[in-house]
Amino acid sequence: MSYYYENPPTAGLPLKWSDWWPAGQSLTSRVSEQLHLPPLQLTCSGTAALIIALTTLAQQQPQRKTVIVPAYTCPLVALAVHHCGLQLQLCDLKPNSIDMDIAQLSTLLNEQVLAVIPTHLGGRVTDVSTVKQLAQFYQISVIEDAAQALGAEVGQHGDIVLFSLAAGKGLTMYEGGLLTASDMQLRSNLQVMSEKLLLRRCKWELLRTLELFGYTALYNPAGLHFVYGQGRRKALRRQQWIAAVGDDFDFDIPMHRVSRWRQHVAANAFLRLPAFLDALQKQAYQRSEQLQSISGIDVIVDQHGRGVWPFLMVLLPACQHRDAVLKQLWTSPLGVTRLFIHPLSQYNYLQPIVPASSMPNAEDFAARMFTITNSLWLTDAQFSRICEVIQDAVR
Ligand SMILES: Cc1ncc(COP(=O)(O)O)c(C=O)c1O
Repeated sequence: MSYYYENPPTAGLPLKWSDWWPAGQSLTSRVSEQLHLPPLQLTCSGTAALIIALTTLAQQQPQRKTVIVPAYTCPLVALAVHHCGLQLQLCDLKPNSIDMDIAQLSTLLNEQVLAVIPTHLGGRVTDVSTVKQLAQFYQISVIEDAAQALGAEVGQHGDIVLFSLAAGKGLTMYEGGLLTASDMQLRSNLQVMSEKLLLRRCKWELLRTLELFGYTALYNPAGLHFVYGQGRRKALRRQQWIAAVGDDFDFDIPMHRVSRWRQHVAANAFLRLPAFLDALQKQAYQRSEQLQSISGIDVIVDQHGRGVWPFLMVLLPACQHRDAVLKQLWTSPLGVTRLFIHPLSQYNYLQPIVPASSMPNAEDFAARMFTITNSLWLTDAQFSRICEVIQDAVR
């Protein structure tokens, strides 16, 4: 293996220079046609999409102030809720699962709750239909957070669904998001809110265009060594786990319009996405099976619909096994890492906005789980090496 080599932590679709030519059709219509979704709106990030969704819902039901989210999710979700002046309520996960604990959720629902956000973490499809059944009794809206799941069978039960087009996601514009709702009136309200909240900001758009240019050039194993691998290893040497996975987000959330040019890039690249997702699925099925043949380990798979596979989420029997694997592999270029370091309640920087509460299943999930990239650049030999390390750790 060359010294200048790095697998990305997630399997993003590489961009080509030809993607920078004008596309014949808009990104939003291409995506909604291909993925059978209602008409989509483009936003500058998944977080911005969530802010637009929550602000629209809050305008309709101003007396409702609480938003329920899974205890283990992206810190940006907590920041978006805070940005909208709403209060976060955590719900624990089911044991060994990304699904919300339905028994706990049913005790949290009442007339004060504005929305619940079931989350399709890591491309796995979560159980939205049960959440929706419970929520509709109190007329609570359900927002499907599919930030990590563009291309999966999602958006069928929730009132609103959002996707992220951030760097490393299946499809990227470096930063971007998509948003839609099943109800036409709600969709139109979201559109009005988008136009109000997303203004032209030339500096942001110029920065994002340059970043997307850099991504086109450097999202490959050699480029990733410099722009991702070196920084990660430096953070790991200093034991800065949160920095190593990029969980340290700013409270200031950029809200701006996306230029036509960046839309063209994503619209062109999107034509390659269906075949790319099929190849990822095939590889993920094979590799999940290989992993599951190691006794004592669990891979998170789909139970509620066909997902997408940016990476594999692997659960080991105990935290010390997981840490033994990471000791060997986290600094390697093999694409082994962690998702979010903590459940939301355990980040120091989020303490002012996240209620302190014990969430045993989410804590256990965060302590025993690590991820393996599903990038097509990870060779079978490299994957077998990862399996050997796991086998040694659990032996
Ligand atoms: C589960 C989840 N929700 C929301 C977001 C926010 O998306 P974005 O980074 O596009 O703002 C992310 C980002 O990775 C995420 O993982």
